[in-house]
Amino acid sequence: MVSNRLPVDCVEAADGTKTWRTSPGGLVTAVEPIVEQLGCVWVGWEGSASTGGEPFEVGSMRLIPVELSAREVDLYYEGFSNATLWPLYHDVIAPPEYHRDWWDSYVTVNERFAAQVAEVAATGAIVWVHDYQLQLVPAMLRKLRPDLTIAFFLHIPFPPRGLFAQLPWRREIIEGLLGADVLGFQRAADAETFRLTAEALTGCPVLGNHIALPARDSSPARAVLAQEFPISIDAEAFARTASEPEMQRRAREIRAELGNPAVVMLGVDRLDYTKGILHRFKAFSELLTDDELDPTDTVLVQVASPSRERVGAYMQLRDEVETAVGRINGEHGSVAHTPLVYLHQSFDREEMAALYLAADVLLVTPLRDGMNLVAKEYVACRTTDDGVLVLSEFAGAAEELGEATLVNPHDIEGLKSAIVRATTMPIAEQHRRMRAMRATVRSNDVANWARSYLGAVSGAADAREAGRPA
Ligand code: G6P
Repeated sequence: MVSNRLPVDCVEAADGTKTWRTSPGGLVTAVEPIVEQLGCVWVGWEGSASTGGEPFEVGSMRLIPVELSAREVDLYYEGFSNATLWPLYHDVIAPPEYHRDWWDSYVTVNERFAAQVAEVAATGAIVWVHDYQLQLVPAMLRKLRPDLTIAFFLHIPFPPRGLFAQLPWRREIIEGLLGADVLGFQRAADAETFRLTAEALTGCPVLGNHIALPARDSSPARAVLAQEFPISIDAEAFARTASEPEMQRRAREIRAELGNPAVVMLGVDRLDYTKGILHRFKAFSELLTDDELDPTDTVLVQVASPSRERVGAYMQLRDEVETAVGRINGEHGSVAHTPLVYLHQSFDREEMAALYLAADVLLVTPLRDGMNLVAKEYVACRTTDDGVLVLSEFAGAAEELGEATLVNPHDIEGLKSAIVRATTMPIAEQHRRMRAMRATVRSNDVANWARSYLGAVSGAADAREAGRPA
């Protein structure tokens, strides 16, 4: 496995002692159980500017750290990855910035990842590269190690052609990705947009779900599969955790700590401008003003885990979110009641499961999201089939979870009426919808995702061995 971030972040105390903390984000949630099961090596960054270091083990995982200097954290990670690609791939919700020194650093760091993988991968191994930070790695790695089978998965959306066209290095990115044998996307629409973009920029024709690359120099003709493989979670593990009596006790305790209100709503996001947190707050605040929600009997708990805190757009968002929290509680709260409980913190899986159990309604309102695994986690934890999921049409999860209360988060009136519907939904309807969604999440769980993706990758590996295009 190769991803920008390892599944654990190194936290260094003042006295120099190191401890490990689970990394944020959906990528780690999904990939970690697969690595634990398959026992592969994971190459990635430790999460702070460092000199790299020796391979180490956490649980049953063997991790190989890649070094990033403080300057590379600035230019490659905070710059090109998170202030160019992230906003560009998320419908330019924030304006992407294009800087040549950011790009140069992106190339250098991608080269370093490719070199490190080339050094540790066994002959003929399958290498699985993840996400937008490493889109050049497939072609770089193929050059260094033509014996490998290379797979790539994009966890975030692939942008519409007209937006991708803004990128000054659009051709290099496409050629980097086409170094893979299999390219996985979250949604069919992402895969299709990629295939058409690749055809337009390279002239290589699309054949079904493949892009046909001609023989070039010493490399034979080959076909790259670009297809959707919607990611998921370890649904069984979440359901098991949620069924433990201790979790149920903690869920009751959370409700009691909130003052046992009639309705508990929950939002769980990285503090990111793609997540629609301010839209959610606006709808909530107007419902309190309009007396459609009772501020003495309704609580919205918003978990906003810290993310990319040195990137300008994230600093600005934090200010806006925290101003809104203060305004809403100032206007609608009392000494006895805080309608909006805001937690700028991360929690472990047990506390998250207890929060999911405590919440009558989960609000997932991103303006654009590759998948959104929080929605699936909530569903997996609701083993008694009650609870309501309010879900943005712009999250990949909406394609599978059609029984959710779907919303367009830009439409504040629509969002308000969806929240009212959610808080008053008859129990029989909750059961019907939740049961259907739980069946979906259980049947396409993360093991299933990995199986179908790796099935396609083995198909590509067999075709390579037989010397024919896949
Ligand atoms: C999203 C991305 C991941 C990323 C994670 C956390 O889930 O798809 O690639 O690792 O966010 O973001 P960070 O910048 O902290 O790694």
